[in-house]
Amino acid sequence: MKLNFSTISWENGIVKILDQTLLPNEETYKIIRTPSEMAEAIKSLRVRGAPLIGIAAAYGVALAAQNTNKKEEINSAIKLLESTRPTAYNLFYSLNRVKKVLANTTDLQAFIEEADKLKNEDEETCSKIGEYGVSLIPKNARCMTHCNAGALATAGIGTALAPIYLAKDKISNVFVPETRPVLQGARLTAWELTRNNIPATLICDSARGYVLSKGMVDLCIVGADRITRNGDTANKIGTYALAVLAKTNNVPFYVAAPYGTIDTSIASGNEIDIELRGEEEIKKIRGVEIAPKEIKAFNPAFDVTPAEYITAFITENGIQKPPFK
Ligand code: MRU
Repeated sequence: MKLNFSTISWENGIVKILDQTLLPNEETYKIIRTPSEMAEAIKSLRVRGAPLIGIAAAYGVALAAQNTNKKEEINSAIKLLESTRPTAYNLFYSLNRVKKVLANTTDLQAFIEEADKLKNEDEETCSKIGEYGVSLIPKNARCMTHCNAGALATAGIGTALAPIYLAKDKISNVFVPETRPVLQGARLTAWELTRNNIPATLICDSARGYVLSKGMVDLCIVGADRITRNGDTANKIGTYALAVLAKTNNVPFYVAAPYGTIDTSIASGNEIDIELRGEEEIKKIRGVEIAPKEIKAFNPAFDVTPAEYITAFITENGIQKPPFK
């Protein structure tokens, strides 16, 4: 299955990204020419979603290798890209792969090839997650997701949305929580589902409990930014609340993610570094102030769902349960 947009591509020495900060109003591709521009694009969520961040960072290193063959300079680009977002493990997984390339060569072609490889692997992984996930979707399924773990977050058909795309004929509705503060649900998931003719309904985050308690959902599927050995899972803020609500209402709660999201160096979720983002993301919506200037705001971008709330993990290697090795 192919979707009708491309999130990232390397084209003759530049990287073209779909600027996700402008969606759904504008479908604009931005040209990225340097590692600093790529770091800015990742930090400001122009490219976002754990798998896509990893791929973007790998291309960012290729941009560095285009201008220098000095190992230290390529290494500084890697450090810069590593400092962009702390939670998504895919960023570190990809850059660790790129570091192995740098250990042997500074040749540009080798970095382009590694980034292309990461991109192709992700595309294939998404399809496999989708194929395994289809078995969990009943006829006339009513699903709920959170944030955007779709095609926009990957180089393929997404993670959480992959089974939904492949089981399209079995889907009667996907509830899309808006996902404050940056509205990845309302702006991105709603955009890609409607564009691909998947029946979807937008709700505000605070309506999730009501909708689940009324028996309107058969299963929840979300993505992940980092999964620890015991299965604790960091994902967009609000995922933990959704998992607790799902368990309370006897609704299965699945996490769909590639193995590149699993950080086996960490035993449990307490050790995950949670990204804190700026106050302005909460105090403004799309540039418009919605709160008094004087109020303080606290903006953790992710939370950790303990493994006990997760029914199973949908990976490229099948439906799995922790521990992960
Ligand atoms: O801050 P974002 O938009 O990068 O957060 C994205 C998420 O939380 C996704 O659910 C996660 O990265 C999985 S994407 C396949």
